[in-house]
Amino acid sequence: MQIIHHIQELRQLVREAKSARGGIKVGFVPTMGYLHQGHASLLEAARKQCDLVVLSIFVNPLQFGPNEDLSRYPRDEERDLAVAKATGTDIVFFPSVEEMYPRPTKTIVSVIEVTERLCGASRPGHFDGVATVVTKLFNIVQPDYAFFGMKDAQQIAVIQQMVDDLNMPVEIVPCKIVREEDGLALSSRNVYLEPEEREQALILSSALNMAEKLVREHKGPLLASELQEAVKQHIDQSSIAEIDYADILAYPSLEPITDLRSVPAFIIALAVKFGKTRLIDNTIIRW
Ligand code: PAF
Repeated sequence: MQIIHHIQELRQLVREAKSARGGIKVGFVPTMGYLHQGHASLLEAARKQCDLVVLSIFVNPLQFGPNEDLSRYPRDEERDLAVAKATGTDIVFFPSVEEMYPRPTKTIVSVIEVTERLCGASRPGHFDGVATVVTKLFNIVQPDYAFFGMKDAQQIAVIQQMVDDLNMPVEIVPCKIVREEDGLALSSRNVYLEPEEREQALILSSALNMAEKLVREHKGPLLASELQEAVKQHIDQSSIAEIDYADILAYPSLEPITDLRSVPAFIIALAVKFGKTRLIDNTIIRW
């Protein structure tokens, strides 16, 4: 496994691998580090599907708002490299902020409409930061496939829209959410949770399970607003959960819907704060 800090070095390495072994497929897993089993599952999927697997670890300042957790975002380089090695990663790209942004960027990639709701509404500018860094990383790595976790379902919808609109020659591979045995979706931010908050955070997966059961068992038309109300009431059973959003939208367009049966697929998307920690989770229901 090679650990690379500089863009030129990475480009050269990928170029050499491609010319040495004609027709190889490059798989890419972009991350912000503090890797957990969810990231490992992306690397494993890339390993299965591709000849060369590149992992990037970069905490991207551009996607954090002024009052967000950039300075305290968890980092553990040693453990990240161990996870990368265990999953058979070939190259770890570990650039510094200066390497990625040697000067303030004057080019921002901004995807409209699909960024209007959910995290796009509660974290203004977040998806501009994501789309810009992902574009830079795609240009640097030039992957054939890029793997993303469905926990950030809006992020996947945004990146897929960007790839389609800008004709980027990469296939986006969505990978399913990895959960703890008790249902909590894996997230680098789970480490912030106090024991009581960790316990109460289980309300997210139980709300999604309850909603999915309700939808599947319900006969006749069901309104998105009714389901949303049921989900909110369920989460409100937790004394410390503070709902940022609990929304039901068409997926992947993320447009509002009235009758759940009017679209082939919809998302139940949650962002809820437990103490200082904001967690997201979702489920997508396809008819
Ligand atoms: O999902 C993440 O970890 C980040 O948003 C990404 C895609 C690596 C861009 O910084």
